[in-house]
Amino acid sequence: MAKSYDIAVIGGDGTGPEVAVEGVKVLQATAEKMGFTLNFKDYEFGGDRYLKTGEALPSSAVDEMKKFDSIFLGAIGHPDVKPGILEKGILLELRFQLDQYINLRPVKLYPGVETPVMGKGPAEIDYVVIRENTGGLYTGTGGFSMKGTEHEVAVQSMVYTYHQVARCLKYAFEYTKKHGKRNTLGLVGKTNVLTFAYDLWERVFNDMGEKEYEDIRRDYYHVDATCMWMIKSPEWFDVLVTGNMFGDIITDLGAMTQGGMGIAAGGNINPDGISMFEPIGGSAPKYTGQNIINPLASICAGAMMLDTLGESEAAAAIESAVAEVTGTKIKSMAAGKMGYSTTEVGDLVAERI
Ligand code: IPM
Ligand code: MN
Repeated sequence: MAKSYDIAVIGGDGTGPEVAVEGVKVLQATAEKMGFTLNFKDYEFGGDRYLKTGEALPSSAVDEMKKFDSIFLGAIGHPDVKPGILEKGILLELRFQLDQYINLRPVKLYPGVETPVMGKGPAEIDYVVIRENTGGLYTGTGGFSMKGTEHEVAVQSMVYTYHQVARCLKYAFEYTKKHGKRNTLGLVGKTNVLTFAYDLWERVFNDMGEKEYEDIRRDYYHVDATCMWMIKSPEWFDVLVTGNMFGDIITDLGAMTQGGMGIAAGGNINPDGISMFEPIGGSAPKYTGQNIINPLASICAGAMMLDTLGESEAAAAIESAVAEVTGTKIKSMAAGKMGYSTTEVGDLVAERI
């Protein structure tokens, strides 16, 4: 019997729903071609719902999401809602509650796409960042005391447990074993200053590498130097692994080197549970409803979702359709500069599957 997958779609805010629709279009075309079924169900979580109801996520949402095989997300972030409420209340809540402890973010320059990094092409910009996704500064405790006075104290702590670090590194070594181009895993940290949190990371990295993955080459980079090498010599990188905050920051830089937020995709992965796939850029509210935003990041997120569901041939079909479109059609990854509308870009990819 043909396989069938249930997918929850959260379009979200701003241009999120527009790009998600194109992602779904391409996924649907791929499923038909490859002979499996995708059942999509829409959820209206986002800023508009929050402004109406006062709650970011209904209390039933997490349990509801657990009924699906995967979640496909557009973007979260609304100009009329104070920063933090929707990000923490929807996006981070789902990541944490569903224990999506890996954030997989490929930094890949597709053919024909212009990069601001001079002299580098698709052969040089092609690596993966594995960002720890449920710990560190994002879930460390914090608070204020004497708020509003000259003596105010604000604390926000980077907390990592052995368990969090070990499971993330385990995933990273396994990923490198399966997908690494040069069998090399690089740890990105800051062991010269963050001598507790990244000391733990480095010790577990070396222990695990020595004992269980002796064939995998290990590199270490400070995060600031990583930013430098991402521009100067991105071809050095194969698979990088890092904590939550550093991973957030370096993947925005990585996205720019791959041509912009319009094409950067990511997966929030629970290897034993429900994962969630999304473009890594924001909701870009100023472009809402104009049909000019780039849907390729969402389409590539769809490919990552299929890969994680075990449909790797279908995922590869989307990847090569995207590469053909970037290589022959689209001028720029930026909203309004593609030479095609959002829906046309979706069609261009869908018809090449
Ligand atoms: C990302 C985003 C989120 C993050 C925000 C919206 C909370 O920047 O997915 O990279 O910091 O993780
Ligand atoms: Mn980010």
